[in-house]
Amino acid sequence: MIRFRKTAAFDKPAGLVLLDQTQIKQQKISAVFPPEIRKAVLSVLKTGYLSDSAGAVFPLTVGEKLIVVLNLGDPSRLTPAYLRQYIRSALVSSYLKTQKELEIVLHRQTDESVLAAIDAVLIGTYSWQKYKTKKIPEFASQKIWLAAAPKKSYETAVVVAGGVNFARDLVNDNADDVTSQYFEKVIRDLIKGQKKFSLEVLNRKELKQKGLNLHLAVNQGSNKDPKLIIVKYDGAAKSRKHTALIGKGLTYDTGGLNLKPTGSIEDMRMDMGGAAAVVGTLRNIIKLRPKKNILFVVGMAENTTDANSYKPGDIFKSYNGKTVEIGNTDAEGRLVLADAISYTVRRYHPERLFDVATLTGACIVALGHDHIGLVSNHDTFANAALKAAAATNDRAWRLPSYPEIAEALHSQIADIKNIGWPKGAAGALTAAEFLRQFTEDTPWVHLDIAGAGFNDSPARGYYAYGATGAGVRLMTRYLLEN
Ligand code: BES
Ligand code: MN
Ligand code: ZN
Repeated sequence: MIRFRKTAAFDKPAGLVLLDQTQIKQQKISAVFPPEIRKAVLSVLKTGYLSDSAGAVFPLTVGEKLIVVLNLGDPSRLTPAYLRQYIRSALVSSYLKTQKELEIVLHRQTDESVLAAIDAVLIGTYSWQKYKTKKIPEFASQKIWLAAAPKKSYETAVVVAGGVNFARDLVNDNADDVTSQYFEKVIRDLIKGQKKFSLEVLNRKELKQKGLNLHLAVNQGSNKDPKLIIVKYDGAAKSRKHTALIGKGLTYDTGGLNLKPTGSIEDMRMDMGGAAAVVGTLRNIIKLRPKKNILFVVGMAENTTDANSYKPGDIFKSYNGKTVEIGNTDAEGRLVLADAISYTVRRYHPERLFDVATLTGACIVALGHDHIGLVSNHDTFANAALKAAAATNDRAWRLPSYPEIAEALHSQIADIKNIGWPKGAAGALTAAEFLRQFTEDTPWVHLDIAGAGFNDSPARGYYAYGATGAGVRLMTRYLLEN
């Protein structure tokens, strides 16, 4: 829990004091520090014990209190991501992680630093411990005091971080537990008793009746139900059209008959990260209730090997009538999304749509894990989404979409193929192009979170091992601002 108060009081058993290199060199510390704390901090700065390197911490005791000084380094090199990372690592350091209550004293009380501290506390100290029989909490603090006057935007950031972690829990847990049925239950529980929210669920029968055959094909080998789940939120006047968020929800992706090899399959319970981001955003919108009309859509399936599995070389007719040749059963996310997108477009006529998906390994090759890959057919929409990404540090980088890329999806025997040609060339772009062809010119932003959504190293930046909740902050912010 984070509490805001205008000035630092140093009345808690522990405190984290942030200083940048300029403040350290000039030994300039805030006038609000009580004299004995001021003296202790200044003496550390004088001795030079506090290392020059950014992120370094130095602990000191003042009476009964523990004060940890954090060096943020050269202010001209201090990015929003580094600020979050340094605060996070100071919090989970051996000095502070066991403290029950502590105060954070910022180097500067700007919106940027307050928002960074909120993310560092709430997103940075998250770790997935459900299956540790001996819990090793990265962080014990139940109460954090932030020396900053309360503001609505800060309270919003606190709520939004909750949605990020909600999405992470869904992604991190076992694939055999987080099934399409589980998603349906989570969504029903979230909207239960909430006014202005309504639900449409398409199960196997309805998917068949309506002809969402690409979605059904992907799920053919599974013993679990395919589901297209749609939540409609009418928070604005009836006249206003909806913004749709459409998430890829592959509860497991083995690759299908084009089975993934060892080394590529182990994290594939995370292949519902897009759907989780949509649900995390839904949770935020339920709490924040902006006056907007929004559709939350998740296409749920499991891609497994079985006698019933869909087969490379076969052709299926999509919901919008296009025939698709299956070049590779591991390019399944675009199939589920294609049907989800065209169904949403034809049934609800949204004003614009986001899709969010752990779509391609190629996006990881192109951008690594620090940026969401963003592709769009609409510059104004794309720029607004990029702005939301930058403002929340849910970072995104735009990749191109252009007419000739469509040629890469040519099929000899169907209207279109689900893999690009030449093999391995611009896989993130050809996947996005496949989706674009089902948008029917609705303004569209595609978020490929294959890299940004999951962290398979011990810690990266301010994210612990596992799911990051990528997309939740970006989409929530966009919806609040547009
Ligand atoms: N879910 C994967 C993409 C993925 C890869 C997400 C690694 C996270 C980490 C997707 O369904 C997939 O398998 N894509 C293939 C497409 C290829 C067969 C054209 C890929 O990226 O290799
Ligand atoms: Mn796949
Ligand atoms: Zn997949």
